[in-house]
Amino acid sequence: MQMLDSVVEKPRIIHVEETLSTNSLLREWLNKEALPTYSVIVADFQTAGRGQLGNVWESEKGKNLTFSLVLYPEALPAKQQFVISQIAALSVKETLDAYTEGISIKWPNDVYWQDKKICGMLIENDLSGHDLFRSIIGIGINLNQMVFRGDAPNPVSLWQIIKQKVDKEVVLRQFLSHIEAYNQALLAGEMALIHARYMEALYRRERYYPYLDAQGKFSAQIYGIEPTGHLLLQDTDGTIRRYAFKEVSYCLSK
Ligand code: BTN
Repeated sequence: MQMLDSVVEKPRIIHVEETLSTNSLLREWLNKEALPTYSVIVADFQTAGRGQLGNVWESEKGKNLTFSLVLYPEALPAKQQFVISQIAALSVKETLDAYTEGISIKWPNDVYWQDKKICGMLIENDLSGHDLFRSIIGIGINLNQMVFRGDAPNPVSLWQIIKQKVDKEVVLRQFLSHIEAYNQALLAGEMALIHARYMEALYRRERYYPYLDAQGKFSAQIYGIEPTGHLLLQDTDGTIRRYAFKEVSYCLSK
């Protein structure tokens, strides 16, 4: 009897010069054509790049990496979807670690160099029943932009740090090899390892810093992060405060 080799489809890397938003384009594409996991749409320029909570993501034409990747997690309960943020942020951090020191992850999934933001992500998850069926991971990494003129509070690019231009294609390939490794770990059920790495990589992981919530400013240290992604802060009275994304902000010096 003849055995058929199982066919594993190769991920596609689709390059476009200009689009409104790679997240939106990838979603439209997937509505028309199935793409294998790790497929990417990368754009030289987004005319309406989307940030978190309806903000605009600004990125100078041709200078930075702006792309979206599709993952199909297997049997991942929706209440554990924060692990996708963790693996995406870890993959960007480890990609950038090869170029500079000082990279960390600011909860939930910004990537920072010192006190400045070098990467933002917009993750859009689609559910099937109680599980995650598909994840569209949109990532903007500031690479070769020399000056930021928009109103983002604290942007920085890799060029501003290392004073060298980097090849965007190379950085994308490096990111893809990290996310593939982390996704394999996720499929193997290694949630604890992923969480431990994420905690180790956290911005302001130790010591007390000022934070701001609906009640005002307070000083606290990070106590933990729940599998749901909620941030636990311990204030100076010892009280543990629990926050969802955007219920608390870090006070950053200018
Ligand atoms: C943020 O920090 O506010 C998230 C920014 C996410 C930007 C990326 S760029 C590629 C992808 N396409 C989008 O429209 N947004 C994400």
